[in-house]
Amino acid sequence: MAARRRTAVLISGRGSNMAALIDAAASEAYPAEIALVLSSRAGAAGLDRAREAGIPAAAIDYSGGQASGEAAIEAALAEHKIELICLAGFMRLLSPDFVDRWRDRVINIHPSLLPAFAGVNTHHRALDAGVKLHGCTVHFVRAAMDNGPIIAQAAVPVLEGDTPEALAARVLAAEHLLYPKVLAQVAAERVRVVNEICVFSDRRREIGGPTLLYSPPGL
Ligand code: GAR
Repeated sequence: MAARRRTAVLISGRGSNMAALIDAAASEAYPAEIALVLSSRAGAAGLDRAREAGIPAAAIDYSGGQASGEAAIEAALAEHKIELICLAGFMRLLSPDFVDRWRDRVINIHPSLLPAFAGVNTHHRALDAGVKLHGCTVHFVRAAMDNGPIIAQAAVPVLEGDTPEALAARVLAAEHLLYPKVLAQVAAERVRVVNEICVFSDRRREIGGPTLLYSPPGL
């Protein structure tokens, strides 16, 4: 079996997507190993969850500004021989230099069907716009926020009477299914970027990769 890709997860808070990745990577057959968790906030709940799983976890000190924060991230990535980075609710924009150095080796999950609703408050804005499908996207990271080649998406229905909280919970359940599937594809080198479009090497998956329509139980 090929060596598992050493992967860091960058978080800022709860870390439920990080936990989904850790759970998936608990299987030896999974092509990535979660070898490091870094948080932009010292009190992030996700740090405890990572340590419980025996994964090195640390808060990054951004108090000296972005450059010193990113230097600390780079040092930790080098120390732990990291090959891939998953952003999972990491609420800091990475600098263009950092993104260039790690080009096509950083992926992000965002709670909308990009390019719709980049930024914050996505569920609120989806309800205000009256869309009937909402969801989440995993993409390779580029310098602009929530921007870059789309690897896969999961769509969920928007239901009458939805609150932002109810919709967020439905999307989050889909995020937890989608992100581990996507990391597996990236770690196994089954996806590459051609002219800023993602192409899957397995022809059967060429159209949508691990994209899924997620029907919550009861629908
Ligand atoms: C997730 O919904 C993730 O998609 C979102 O933050 C949440 C983090 O939750 N990310 C973004 O909005 C990035 N623009 P988690 O800490 O429980 O994974």
